[in-house]
Amino acid sequence: MTYIIALDGPSGSGKSTLADLLSKRLNIEYLNTGSMYRAVTRRFLELNIKENENDKIREELDNIRMDINKGRIFLNGRDLTDMLRDEEVTANVSWVSANKDVREKLVDLQRNIAKDTSFILDGRDIGTVVFPDARYKFYVTASPRVRAKRRFDQNELAQSLDEIEQAIIKRDEYDSNREIAPLKKADDAILIDNSDLNIEETIDLIMKKMEL
Ligand code: DC
Repeated sequence: MTYIIALDGPSGSGKSTLADLLSKRLNIEYLNTGSMYRAVTRRFLELNIKENENDKIREELDNIRMDINKGRIFLNGRDLTDMLRDEEVTANVSWVSANKDVREKLVDLQRNIAKDTSFILDGRDIGTVVFPDARYKFYVTASPRVRAKRRFDQNELAQSLDEIEQAIIKRDEYDSNREIAPLKKADDAILIDNSDLNIEETIDLIMKKMEL
């Protein structure tokens, strides 16, 4: 029997690192759904498509073919994996992922990819919308300050710790209040606050909860 693990939570909670390690430990596949929203964002930026241009958005979505292979994301055959984490994409991904047509397309794709194989998916709406019947559901979070510190330590962004923290708070607020599939813990998801835990300790806690 195959099974799904839904791992939701805000940015900087360590979701993607956790999902990657758990997939290796459990020998199941891993899908990072945030990267899918980021890939569409990258494409819209390249085409200069703006937030309110719904016709253009729909037209482009019809043209987009997304393939995922060994953790790499291809859009119309082009590997965009290494172009998804810069500030421009990060600043725009919230409005792109709040768009109804974008979500419809990517949720469909996510359900299809994970339909006959055991998968761990990380995102914002996996346990609430994409796979409400997932066998295991976790909602991972940590305080904004701790999450900002983690981002800061990755040295990916030319921003101060305070700036990163403010951006995180703003993005959480936007993601939690958007109309469609807001960032929200599913009622039956297990809450994991890892503000005071490192990755290994968080993995151990999740594995322990799975044995229940
Ligand atoms: O996890 P991340 O930071 O790479 O996600 C990027 C953005 O995509 C984030 O602003 C929320 C959005 N997202 C979403 O709306 N639904 C998902 N399942 C995954 C990500």
